[in-house]
Amino acid sequence: MSKLVWLLLAATMLQAQITWNAANKLWFLNTATSSCVIGINERNELQTVYWGGPITRAGDFTSAHSTPDRSSFDPSATRTREEYPAWGGTRYVEPALKVTRANGDRDLVLKYRDHKITGDALDITLRDINDDIFVTLYYQVFPALGMIEKHSTIRNGTSAKITLESAQSGAWSLPPGEGYRLTYVSGRWAAEDQISREPIDTGMKILESRRGNTSHNNNPWFMIDDSHASEQNGRVWFGALGWSGNWRMTVEQTPYAQVRVTGGLNTFDFGYDLKPGDSLETPAFYGGYSGDGFGGASRALHRFEREAILPGGTTSRLRPVLYNSWEATTFAVDQAGQQALAAKAASIGVELFVMDDGWFGKRNDDHAGLGDWVVNPAKFPNDLQPLIAEVNRLGMDFGLWVEPEMVNPNSDLYRAHPDWVLNFTGRPRSELRNQLVLNLARKDVSDYIFAFLDRLASTYKVKYFKWDMNRSMSEPGWPAVAPEEEKKVWIEYVRNYYGIIDRLRAKHPALEIESCSGGGARIDLGVLKRVDEVWTSDNTEAFDRLRIQEGFSYAYAPKIMSAWVTDVPNMNHRSTPLQFRFLVAMQGALGIGANLNKWSDEDFALAKKMVTIDKQIRATVQTGLLYRLLSPREGEVTASEYVSQDGRQSVLFAFRHSQQFETLAPSLHLEGLDANATYTLTDLNSRTSELSGAYLANHGVDLNLAGDYSSALVVLTRK
Ligand code: GLA
Repeated sequence: MSKLVWLLLAATMLQAQITWNAANKLWFLNTATSSCVIGINERNELQTVYWGGPITRAGDFTSAHSTPDRSSFDPSATRTREEYPAWGGTRYVEPALKVTRANGDRDLVLKYRDHKITGDALDITLRDINDDIFVTLYYQVFPALGMIEKHSTIRNGTSAKITLESAQSGAWSLPPGEGYRLTYVSGRWAAEDQISREPIDTGMKILESRRGNTSHNNNPWFMIDDSHASEQNGRVWFGALGWSGNWRMTVEQTPYAQVRVTGGLNTFDFGYDLKPGDSLETPAFYGGYSGDGFGGASRALHRFEREAILPGGTTSRLRPVLYNSWEATTFAVDQAGQQALAAKAASIGVELFVMDDGWFGKRNDDHAGLGDWVVNPAKFPNDLQPLIAEVNRLGMDFGLWVEPEMVNPNSDLYRAHPDWVLNFTGRPRSELRNQLVLNLARKDVSDYIFAFLDRLASTYKVKYFKWDMNRSMSEPGWPAVAPEEEKKVWIEYVRNYYGIIDRLRAKHPALEIESCSGGGARIDLGVLKRVDEVWTSDNTEAFDRLRIQEGFSYAYAPKIMSAWVTDVPNMNHRSTPLQFRFLVAMQGALGIGANLNKWSDEDFALAKKMVTIDKQIRATVQTGLLYRLLSPREGEVTASEYVSQDGRQSVLFAFRHSQQFETLAPSLHLEGLDANATYTLTDLNSRTSELSGAYLANHGVDLNLAGDYSSALVVLTRK
């Protein structure tokens, strides 16, 4: 072997991020910011030994040992921190796997069988003590990004069918002890991503969706700290699931002071038959650790999404400035109206023009037309080409709204295929927004959806689909399959939804997709592998948005957060200045959804200026490091700072929602700057000043924000 090959091999071995210590029966999974140690105990069970900040000295750990019995009510099996506990024997914690065999037996006890390390991936296979029921636990480390992925594959190697009643991706166990605190989001339509932070106590907290998609009500991520973390400092363990269907996370503190988060497919209405030889693969459950507080955890997730999750990764382009016609026209779209809006949008620097709902079928309101994806000839007598040509001539890409999974009963599609929707035979088919849900688990349905999207992408120069889903699922019946197979609809639907997008992107590599579901009901690390941005919320009111965007930013990168400037008074009758609305929206992927036909010359002038500034700072906002300086939940002033990866540019946004008489706005202490460097500060009026990094951090910036809904932007350039 040549010297070079040896050197390369040695370098790779040094960097090996997964190692196996046969003497102690321990695996070490290491990343730059976290470590996970898993072991095989004396009963041959898989046990979590450690998860937390990086510890790379293997000798610090001794082999895994079960925790002894305490009483006849506190057996060892339930007190031991198993890595993937199945329901069987004397286990009373939340199981990662629960099965019923054809003969009614439900006991399942998993023991280590073998493992394989391939680069940054580790497979550990477990088997039931009696039967050929196998579970392969799959781990992947992302060394530089600080993240570890877990998921499981359950395989039925027996000669009879088994039914899975719970199939979780994995469990993340925290270091033993009490006093932890959980941070998560809850919400509802138009009020997504509201942050909650609460102590973890003995018992179980469930975060979940039962709606068929990710849902507005909870979002599949968690952060847990030791109750001392802040935005800037402290120990935070975090995780996120990649699944856009019914998901579940249980945050459990056992009576033995063990905190764990078990997550994967929701057990609600779950029943998945595995015939002999069949298997089920569960969704990815990613975990990480930050020693830099909640801010550090968010920055780690943002980077992970940008570099390892989003299509194109680091090579994907910055999100362009978008215009969407929905709030201007609602369903009343036509060629002349869209062209007039397009000209106005182009004049302020918009780069992507999206025509929303109303262009197809008999879609004049939300009572008809969904499912009939043919251009409405009354609205577009010459088809879409002239509009698209004009949009392109104006220098913009063209995007189109679609809601592929839905059908109005008043549509040609439903009249032809009433059996294509989710339904239980003879039972009511509940409509929401006058529409029913097509059963994507059916091959004919998903083929139909792929075909029309492919046709649209091929026939027209569509650069971008806004893929909407405007209701939750109900009556999830699938009469075409055997009764015992029907519950699989929850899983097969999501798989086919992913499959359609995967096929579409493979065939049209330049196509971009936005995930929208009546706002933010379909945002998770599963769909983010397939779409370029997401619609954060139908609520575009700028003050409400500050909270929604704060919650969003805990788990998701600013790059994917579409944020629009819309007209006032907005949905909750509040009016904020146009500058305030722009600065709120410029913290994500800027869009404009206002009715440009009503804008004054001053509005256009301000918009043009703000779009120009957005283009100068968007690389920093979309791909930089986010520091949440002041939370909208805590005071009159909200502030966020974004620092570019190379540290050359920083951008400070500040908002004062309401001013109490004569109170001063707080100084804003900047983060992530070089104390020894000097920065040039430029405000919205191009006034400049110079300050040191040390001053900006220690003394802080005084923006003199005065009056209700005042706002400021400062761009800092390192000299
Ligand atoms: C949903 C979306 C809106 C718009 C309408 C169109 O409500 O969230 O942005 O696209 O549908 O019907």
